[in-house]
Amino acid sequence: MLPLKEKDRPIVKKLLEAGCCARCVLRFCCLGVQSDTARELCAFISDSENNESQDAAVLEQHTEDPPSKKMKMDAAEMDVQSEGDSAVVPTVMEEGDAEPADSDVCVVCLGVLQQFCDEAYAIKVCLVTINPIALGATVFPCPPTRPVSKCIAQDVQCLHVSVFVAGRYNKFSRTLPQTPWVIDGERRMESSVEELIAAPLLSSFRAEGFNFSSSGREDVDVRTLGNGRPFALELLNPHRARFNKAEVRQLQETINQSSDKIRVRDLQIVSRDAMGHMKEGEEDKTKSYTALIWTQKAINKDDITFLEETKELKLAQKTPLRVLHRRPLAVRERVIHTMSTCFLDAHHFHLKLRTQAGTYIKEFVHGDFGRTKPNLCDLLKSETDILELDVESVDVDWPPSIPE
Ligand SMILES: *[C@@H]1O[C@H](CO)[C@@H](O)[C@H](O)[C@H]1NC(C)=O
Ligand SMILES: *[C@@H]1O[C@H](CO)[C@@H](O)[C@H](O)[C@H]1NC(C)=O
Ligand SMILES: *[C@@H]1O[C@H](CO)[C@@H](O)[C@H](O)[C@H]1NC(C)=O
Ligand SMILES: [Zn+2]
Repeated sequence: MLPLKEKDRPIVKKLLEAGCCARCVLRFCCLGVQSDTARELCAFISDSENNESQDAAVLEQHTEDPPSKKMKMDAAEMDVQSEGDSAVVPTVMEEGDAEPADSDVCVVCLGVLQQFCDEAYAIKVCLVTINPIALGATVFPCPPTRPVSKCIAQDVQCLHVSVFVAGRYNKFSRTLPQTPWVIDGERRMESSVEELIAAPLLSSFRAEGFNFSSSGREDVDVRTLGNGRPFALELLNPHRARFNKAEVRQLQETINQSSDKIRVRDLQIVSRDAMGHMKEGEEDKTKSYTALIWTQKAINKDDITFLEETKELKLAQKTPLRVLHRRPLAVRERVIHTMSTCFLDAHHFHLKLRTQAGTYIKEFVHGDFGRTKPNLCDLLKSETDILELDVESVDVDWPPSIPE
């Protein structure tokens, strides 16, 4: 029995009518059943079939098992002999046949899953657990038009599905970019956060590559302290995918020990969907910073304490000059929720800020030639500059923390 539910019945009917093959029907119902599916699908909807006799005809055209006759594949030069006994007479492309009957070809997989996913073929490919074809989400008319000919396999490539790994990173260096820094084809910094994190993962998962993403990013000269910044990494074509908690912890330790410049916590394997949480409501989140400020005018403790009374300060920030080459020109409103100060000497103090995510801190301090208003120069009535900046926290509660 197929584990289909009553609610699937109209869906199965619709899909079969539209010209889907049995495998595609089951894929859309989120079932990975491999056995005698076409016959069972028939049986499944036969209740309603009795009521609407014209559907029976449609059914018969589309529910046969993978074609059981011999066919030749171009490059692979393999003859596939299907085991399936065919109760319904399949229309199969014979060697030398000019055209298959169009009604036979699945409108979704264009015959790929009808022909090439049977057991004999899978054994030939020597990998039973792989999913040989990734069918892209192309925009189709609805229902799709009936194809006239089947796909022909030119080549078979087997890829393992991506594994996603997430965590939080600290960056303790002011000379480490988040991603490789390449200008005019020339590398500017020897390493990067993503490479330091990815290197041990690539070798352990025996992956061919990776994609890195994070909740915001810091400049090369900015440290990320506190609980760290959430990140996620897609490992492409990993040859090993299963790691238990202890092994993941070991990986985290390997990353921790590979460099003094970064640390990683809460490392875990996540689903592709879960990654979405990282970018969710990014703009509404709060970020905390500590900045080392220089003032041209000599100051004393009392000159800066008034900043602590300033709450929910609204800024209008024109796109900073330093990022104008890659971001569109716009004026963005951002909020500094709170500030606190720590006097150091007549020209220096530490400023702690809690801000809306996306606030340009450096520009708030030096004013960016009046492009950020108000700015710290206005508030202190002195030229001010930022000497150092640390991210103290990124308040995104994903990925979930892993108890030590
Ligand atoms: C088929 O018809 C019978 C009665 O004629 C009805 O009880 C049943 O609900 C119908 N089934 C479907 C799926 O329409
Ligand atoms: C992931 O990386 C590969 C190759 O590096 C690239 O082709 C692909 O577009 C990337 N995918 C995403 C979702 O970024
Ligand atoms: C890695 O470093 C982080 C940050 O210091 C720490 O919280 C975590 O326990 C370390 N993990 C391992 C396995 O060493
Ligand atoms: Zn199909």
